[in-house]
Amino acid sequence: MTDTTRAAHGSLAGLLDTEAIRKDFPILHRTVHGGKPLVYLDNAASSQKPRQVLDAVNDYYEQHHANVHRGVHVLAEEATALYEGARDKVAAFINAPSRNEVVFTKNASESLNLVANMLGWAEDPYRVDAGTEIVITEMEHHSNIVPWQLLAQRTGATLKWFGLTDDGRLDLSRIDEIITERTKVVSFMLVSNVLGTVNPVDRIVRRAQEVGALVVVDASQAAPHMPLDVQSLQADFVVFTGHKMCGPTGIGVLWGRHELLEDLPPFLGGGEMIETVTMHSSTYAPAPHKFEAGTPPIAQAVGLGAAVDYLTGIGMDRVLAHEEALTRYALERLSEVPDLRIIGPLTGEDRGATISFTLGDIHPHDVGQVLDEQGIAVRVGHHCARPVCLRYGIPATTRASFYLYSTPAEVDALVAGLDYVRGFFG
Ligand SMILES: Cc1ncc(COP(=O)(O)O)c(C=O)c1O
Repeated sequence: MTDTTRAAHGSLAGLLDTEAIRKDFPILHRTVHGGKPLVYLDNAASSQKPRQVLDAVNDYYEQHHANVHRGVHVLAEEATALYEGARDKVAAFINAPSRNEVVFTKNASESLNLVANMLGWAEDPYRVDAGTEIVITEMEHHSNIVPWQLLAQRTGATLKWFGLTDDGRLDLSRIDEIITERTKVVSFMLVSNVLGTVNPVDRIVRRAQEVGALVVVDASQAAPHMPLDVQSLQADFVVFTGHKMCGPTGIGVLWGRHELLEDLPPFLGGGEMIETVTMHSSTYAPAPHKFEAGTPPIAQAVGLGAAVDYLTGIGMDRVLAHEEALTRYALERLSEVPDLRIIGPLTGEDRGATISFTLGDIHPHDVGQVLDEQGIAVRVGHHCARPVCLRYGIPATTRASFYLYSTPAEVDALVAGLDYVRGFFG
C-alpha cells in the first residue's frame, strides 16, 4: 500500500469497524491457493454468513425442528413460533404495514415468477392478457425478464422495456410512451447487479400510478445494502433474496399489498395453503399462507430472521454509509488502472457497491482466473443480465462487489491484482 492510499483510508468517513465485523464471519479468515488470504469481492452473487446466522440455523435443527402449523406437540409449536417470528422480523426490517404481507419463497426468482403467474391467472382489473402491456427494463436480471417473457408468450400480452443511457442509467426520456393506459404491470430493479445503478423509483411509480399499472420492485441488490421501506417505495410488490443479505440460501421474500394478496389467486397448490378441500374444489387460507404451499423453508426462514437481527444491530444506514465510502474509494482507485473501462456510472452518486469493468482486450474469464490465483474472488461473465452486455457491445465483464465487511485494503488488493493481470498478459 502506498502512502497516498494509506492517507486515503484515513480520510474515508463513514466506514464501519470492519475488524470487529469480520470476526463474526468465519469464512473470511480462511486462506486459498496455498495460504493466500481470501479477498471476497463476489457479494452481489451471494454474501457470506455471520456466526449468529449459522448458530441460529444450527440451534433450530438441534433443539426445535418439527414441521410447522400442523402439530400440537411442543416441538411443532416452537418451530412454528420461530418460523412466524422470522416473518415478524422481516416485516419490521422492510417497514411492512402488516406481517401478513410477507410471503416466504425460496428466492427472488420464485417471488418474481409467483407475481407473474398470479397476474396471468387473475381476474380483472389485474389480469394480464392479449391487448395489455408489461414493462421492464434492459438492465434487469434474467429473473426479472424471463418470467415476464413467459407471461407475455402465454397470454398474448406485449412486453416493452426502458433502454439504457451510455452512462449506465435508465433512459426514461420516453416514459409516457412506454408506460401507457394499456400497461398492467411495471417491474424493475431498485439497484443493478451489473452497473450498480440505483434507479429513480419515484418517477416510475408516479407514471405507473397515473395509468393504474401495478409496480413490482426487485430489491435483491438493495435489501442487503440500504434501509428498505416498502411503504415509502409505494410499490405494490417488492421482492428480495435471503442469501445476498447474510441469510441462508433457499429463502426469498415477496412483500405485497394486503388487498392484492387477498384478491389474487394462488400459484402453487398443496398442503398448508388451503382452508378446506373436497374432491371437487378447495378454498384457500388467507395470505400469506395462500402462497406458501407445502412444507416451507423453515430453517432458512429462521436463518433469515437472524440475518435481519444482525443487520439491524449494525444499522442499515451505517451499512449504506460504509459501502458508499468504499465505492467512492474503489471508483477512484480503479480509475488509475490503465485500460480499465467501468461499465456503469463513474461517480458514487445514486450508485451501489457493485463495479463492473473490462480490462483492455483481456477476456474477463482470464482476469477472474488470474485474480483468483492471488486469492481475490470476483465474478466474471454476464451476471445473469446478458442484455446489459449486448447493450454495451461487450461479451462479459469482471465484477467486484462489496459488502459491510469489505475493506479499503481489499480494494487496494484488487487494484494490485489487476496490475499483476496486466503484466501477466502484457
Ligand atoms: C437484481 C437481482 N434480481 C434477482 C436475482 C435472483 O436472485 P436468486 O437467484 O436468489 O433468485 C439476483 C441474483 O443475482 C439479482 O442480482
